[in-house]
Amino acid sequence: MEKSTRERILQRLMQEDWISGQALAEQLNISRTAIWKQITALKEAGYAIESNKKTGYHLIDRGDHLTPLAIEHYLRTNTLGRKIFHVEETETTQRIAHDLAQQQVAEGMLVVCDYQTSGRGQLGRIWHETKGNGIAMSLIVRPDVPLDQAGQLTLLSGLALATALRDLDVPVTIKWPNDLLIAGRKVAGILTEMQTEGSRISSVIIGIGINVQHEEFRDVIADRATSLKLATGRTFQRAEIVATFLNQFEQMYTRWVEEGFGSFVQAWEQLADKLNQSITVRSRQQIVTGILRGIQADGTLMIESAQGLETFHSAELVYWTEN
Ligand code: BTN
Repeated sequence: MEKSTRERILQRLMQEDWISGQALAEQLNISRTAIWKQITALKEAGYAIESNKKTGYHLIDRGDHLTPLAIEHYLRTNTLGRKIFHVEETETTQRIAHDLAQQQVAEGMLVVCDYQTSGRGQLGRIWHETKGNGIAMSLIVRPDVPLDQAGQLTLLSGLALATALRDLDVPVTIKWPNDLLIAGRKVAGILTEMQTEGSRISSVIIGIGINVQHEEFRDVIADRATSLKLATGRTFQRAEIVATFLNQFEQMYTRWVEEGFGSFVQAWEQLADKLNQSITVRSRQQIVTGILRGIQADGTLMIESAQGLETFHSAELVYWTEN
């Protein structure tokens, strides 16, 4: 996608400590007045930029922007996230991603927004967000694998996100199949949805919601939810988190398409919450309490109960009285 003049100025400001108006004007082939206008617009958009008659312009603070440019700054991928559809506000990024996937956009397109008003969660639940605090993104992939393997993408995305957050020194664990926790409280959730054409996968939309800068939660979930800031006391660049996830996920995804999920089991189990501890599992058919023993090569959950080793393809781990 062609970068706007404003994005190119921002990119240069990110690359240099100080850069003169003259140098910017020459590099972008526009007048110094045009540069000044764009700098003013960037300041209005929340970027802290210092101006000095002699030395030019200096980006003091990148702010916490979730724009394509901010994400690209940290991105090391070949394909994933190289095309970004960014909106300030939307009901759900899943809907936009589904529509784009149907319009045959290429694999790797990322839909990201600053504020999602009706986020969708697993099992028809609602994913709540407060403005500017979280990350809501939907990634479109088109894996050439059998249909019954698509569900593994939930586990793979969870592993990639957990690895990415651990790279940023956040001690997350994974609650099978789609939640990320910090000290037993939910910090992120994943919703994968598939579009098919006959018996083959046309696209999978991987929707990820992360609580980042929240300082409090609604009463109902206050005892079970957390944010990266609440849990660590640090503030984060949401763009860095998005890119760090994509950097991790692209490597894992490429390997998964070629080799399947088996070689990820060990890494997944190392990050699994309550591994070898007692847990209750609720499936459509039954509620079982037993020891969480890990997952099989296809991602199926293994619980050792009084009846022996039981496996669950689709179920929910019961952590809180009302999930
Ligand atoms: C869950 O934990 O139940 C899954 C939550 C998934 C939320 C994300 S936010 C981005 C994407 N858009 C949505 O409407 N939902 C997913």
